[in-house]
Amino acid sequence: MSPLFKPYDLAGTALTNRVVMAPMTRARARDDIPDEHTVLYYAQRASAGLIISEGAPISREGCGYLFNPGLYNDAQVQGWRRVTDAVHAKGGKIFAQLWHVGRVSHVSIQPDGAAPVSSVAVTAAKSNAYAWVAEGQPGPVQASTPRGLEAHEVHRVTADFVSAARRAMDAGFDGVELHGANGYLFEQFLNGALNTRTDEYGGSIANRQRFLLETLDALAAEIGSAQVGVRISPFGRLFDMHPYAEEAESWLSLAAALNARSLAYVHLSDQLTLGAEAIPQGFAEQFRQAYQGTLMAAGGFTRLLAEAVLEKGDLDLVAFGRPFIANPDLVARMQHDWPLADADRATFYGIEGSPTRGYTDYPVASQGA
Ligand SMILES: Cc1cc2nc3c(=O)[nH]c(=O)nc-3n(C[C@H](O)[C@H](O)[C@H](O)COP(=O)(O)O)c2cc1C
Repeated sequence: MSPLFKPYDLAGTALTNRVVMAPMTRARARDDIPDEHTVLYYAQRASAGLIISEGAPISREGCGYLFNPGLYNDAQVQGWRRVTDAVHAKGGKIFAQLWHVGRVSHVSIQPDGAAPVSSVAVTAAKSNAYAWVAEGQPGPVQASTPRGLEAHEVHRVTADFVSAARRAMDAGFDGVELHGANGYLFEQFLNGALNTRTDEYGGSIANRQRFLLETLDALAAEIGSAQVGVRISPFGRLFDMHPYAEEAESWLSLAAALNARSLAYVHLSDQLTLGAEAIPQGFAEQFRQAYQGTLMAAGGFTRLLAEAVLEKGDLDLVAFGRPFIANPDLVARMQHDWPLADADRATFYGIEGSPTRGYTDYPVASQGA
């Protein structure tokens, strides 16, 4: 039997296979609340061994894009409850991705029109938020200049993550994934080229990692470490992240720090299909040496590539992003070698037009895809 379709024990959460649906923002939630379309979209994809939800903002400050279903108010919890119930009814499992965009935001969607927050007051060049271009008109806008968080505010953001994790569990999620990847808030602290803070959250490698590790520990204390995963993007270049000295050493020391915690998993986001450079050849294997817990990765996988890494033992689970947009029955299609449909980029994001088009209207293979 192909290793991809074997069950997996994810720290006590029983997965029916090793195919993970990667977190994907779809920006279709009017008022930032999951609705019946969100419920159907995730239920259609529940044959994945594990679904990781689209990034769910943990606070209004954490929002960088309009129409993302968050985890900071009761209506959102009720909306997500319908999603998790529908996924569980089909035998699936679902983690919530907890998200704070940091500086990749715009004053028009920040509370009181304030500046977004980050490690330091440096604008993400050539980086768009999705906010109000004009009143009532959503669209891409250059991210605003952020302000650096005070140390006591860093603790407050950690507390916001803990509240969101509590809400996620109340909403019936099987666990949470801390979004530490792709140029957002945590990477703005991890990155040695950007984070020039002089307090305990900047400077040395350990100081730059402190915010991420403190937040993981706080989440684990609140909901249990078996319910907490983390996503990171070693050598990430999205949203104006740049190379820095001792970059490989930084990521490997983070791997060791994560290894010392018994988290549900670590998830590597390889940006090669997101318009940035790939993780350097051989690095994932080095990471694996330093991190012996459950490891998954996303970025350009096909069935054959996924089977090869699972067989080699480099990964335990493989996450698929875009293939899950256009193939709700991706697991069955891969299992039977049925052809895969291509996702339409034009309908990746947004609430303009039909609420179902490019979202819940991709057919399963037996319906003639
Ligand atoms: C439409 C879209 C939205 C995405 N949103 C998120 C997100 O909310 N959080 C995240 O960590 N990654 C996000 N990603 C990245 C995916 O999780 C995944 O890493 C990426 O698509 C690479 O996998 P693939 O080559 O199988 O598509 C997004 C990707 C796409 C295509």
